Amino acid sequence: MASIGKSIETASDFLKKGQLVAIPTETVYGLAANALDTTAVAGVFEAKNRPVFDPLIIHTYSVIKAKDYVKSIPEPLLKLANAFWPGPLTLLLAKKEIVPDLVTSGLDRVAVRVPNHALTLDLLKSIDFPLAAPSANPFGYVSPTAPEHVNKQLGEKVSYILDGGNCEVGIESTIVGMEEEKVCVYRLGGLATEEIEKIVGKVELKINSSSNPAAPGQLKSHYAPMKQLVLGNITENLSKYKNAAVIYFGEKNFGNAKTEFNLSPDKNLKEAAAKLFSALRKMDESDAEIILCDYLPEEGLGRAINDRLKRAAVK
Ligand code: TXA
Ligand code: MG
Repeated sequence: MASIGKSIETASDFLKKGQLVAIPTETVYGLAANALDTTAVAGVFEAKNRPVFDPLIIHTYSVIKAKDYVKSIPEPLLKLANAFWPGPLTLLLAKKEIVPDLVTSGLDRVAVRVPNHALTLDLLKSIDFPLAAPSANPFGYVSPTAPEHVNKQLGEKVSYILDGGNCEVGIESTIVGMEEEKVCVYRLGGLATEEIEKIVGKVELKINSSSNPAAPGQLKSHYAPMKQLVLGNITENLSKYKNAAVIYFGEKNFGNAKTEFNLSPDKNLKEAAAKLFSALRKMDESDAEIILCDYLPEEGLGRAINDRLKRAAVK
């Protein structure tokens, strides 16, 4: 098991030595390494068992600092950065030479974000390199939203877990870039599309590219618990499957289940997003045999939640 604590100095010492440190962000915990040190970055892929065709996001502390790593920021994306950084927004931008090809899997664009977490922002300011950090879970499994989640699964592989408590947003950042003159969303996430559209107008959704390595990370099966997750009407599915754990939203309107988890009794999508991954983990660890859940309203963060559920249900 890794040591867990709140020391920025300890975290930055390990990172300077090329070792891996788990860092808190508002979305999910990241498995961080010095993004400019290829050996350290290789360690991230290895620890996660992640295919090298799936590139990493680099994390830094300001728009100005981001410019050290990218050639330029097109006007609409700059507007988004100014509006939402620090926050759950990742931008795909033309990379400078200094960013290793391993980070971007050989692509010309690098994914950049400024996370909204005080500890991690302080950590980023204390080092002179950006942090490459994917979610700190084994490849394909549910993302971690608490330090214990990281410790359980990757504890042997990280030098230190920087403890920033539970993640407030709970699902990964929204990934945005441009093609020609159009703003495109490549991954639905913690920043709702509606918020983005208020700043830059209508965006194009490019989120269904499944197993195409040119659009990595939108793999069909991802964020998946070990147990089978079945989506759809809970009452109907309860009659089909015995010994089921149920994840639901709002009022309870189904019969008895082995275990239950309410994502938000008040039907608050923000709360549901924050609890989604720990719900999946909890149900996965329960003694039920199968997990049932229905789609949430397809609006705001509900769209990102449904996206995660769909991928989690694919085996
Ligand atoms: O909220 C988040 O974004 C979290 C925290 C830790 O920052 N990170 C995260 O990283 O979710 P990860 O590696 O689990 O997901 C990053 C996604 C992947 O789907 C990857 O394919 C995509 O970003 N990505 C990264 N760089 C890319 C690039 N250059 N072009 C296209 N997609 C990219
Ligand atoms: Mg991930």
